[in-house]
Amino acid sequence: PKKDQGLSRDLYQLMEEANLYYQSQLRQHSDKQKVIDYLDFRGLSSKVVEQFGIGFAPDGWDGLLGRYRQNQAAQDKLLTAGMLIANDNGKRYDRFRDRLMFPIRDRRGRVVGFGGRVLGDGTPKYLNSPETPIFHKGNELYGLYELKQRHRDPQQVLIVEGYMDVVALAQFDVDYAVASLGTATTAEQFQLLVRSAKEVICCYDGDKAGKAAAWRALETALPLLKPGDVVRFMFLPQGEDPDTMVRQVGKDGFEKLMLDALDLPAFLFETLTAQYGTDKSALAKQAITLIERVQDTVLQNLLLENLAHKIGMNSADDLKKKLGFAVKQQQPMNKKGLQGRGTPLRLAIA
Ligand code: UTP
Ligand code: MN
Ligand code: MN
Ligand code: MN
Ligand code: MN
Repeated sequence: PKKDQGLSRDLYQLMEEANLYYQSQLRQHSDKQKVIDYLDFRGLSSKVVEQFGIGFAPDGWDGLLGRYRQNQAAQDKLLTAGMLIANDNGKRYDRFRDRLMFPIRDRRGRVVGFGGRVLGDGTPKYLNSPETPIFHKGNELYGLYELKQRHRDPQQVLIVEGYMDVVALAQFDVDYAVASLGTATTAEQFQLLVRSAKEVICCYDGDKAGKAAAWRALETALPLLKPGDVVRFMFLPQGEDPDTMVRQVGKDGFEKLMLDALDLPAFLFETLTAQYGTDKSALAKQAITLIERVQDTVLQNLLLENLAHKIGMNSADDLKKKLGFAVKQQQPMNKKGLQGRGTPLRLAIA
């Protein structure tokens, strides 16, 4: 509808104004030195700060608000855009205060949200824009627009956890990383990634949460992979994330680590083996529930072949016979163009 389009246009406009405001504060606010010190401490170059449009939201309740004192309509829209918060008395104030600001752009380069980091140890470490009419976290990827500016048709794209990871990698010329926005990588984000590049490499933090995120990513990716899609999983040493890693080993070292990334079948079976050990029946059962969701029949057969060997059978065919594996029908697409869950298979493993 016309009215919504008009509202969206105004929201994009105000988000861009906010972005320019935060950038200007990094250059001219009286507190700017502590921000520059923090950028130094994090090792961010002015070039990369500029490239990603990083800015500074000053401390105080009305830095941004104050610019719209006489403009009630703009204030209303800033509230809708998540840039202002209204308290119980209806009094409005800036959502982002005393934070380093990362503008989040959509695929067309429009600022749709922000991530704001405290300049030190406060909480929350990152404050993100809420869902708004123009910002849907699950559909956006931080850094994708910037990546596409540099590579029209990227060979590979790295998916990482954080804003800082994307920016630090870019500073070290690993300029093909994007981040999901404070949540697990969604099916929509994966769909976007596999369409954007020939190869998607998941590189989450080297900790328990990162490992769990990689497994969730595998589960999310499985049903939507098409023939030719390549997804791999890279694991960092304990305690490192892509930011700290690339600072230690540089672009070459990082890309060497990338060569060791596991392909999807390897990650899947390594994880199941670690979990089930010699309990082949349990391993097979779990593997089948994953494999049945795969729509790409080439990948599905490859996984079955792997599973067969893993549990001491000669071939996928033997395994299928044993399982009474029905030739799988194509699953209907749901509204989002994502495929539904596969039909459960009858399990006959003793
Ligand atoms: P991390 O805690 O790994 O952040 O969270 P990081 O990027 O390594 O942070 P630095 O290096 O200390 O600056 C990964 C991502 O999770 C989201 C953010 O998107 C962050 O980049 N997150 C994390 C939040 O949204 N809020 C938080 O409080 C923490
Ligand atoms: Mn490049
Ligand atoms: Mn983490
Ligand atoms: Mn980090
Ligand atoms: Mn991290």
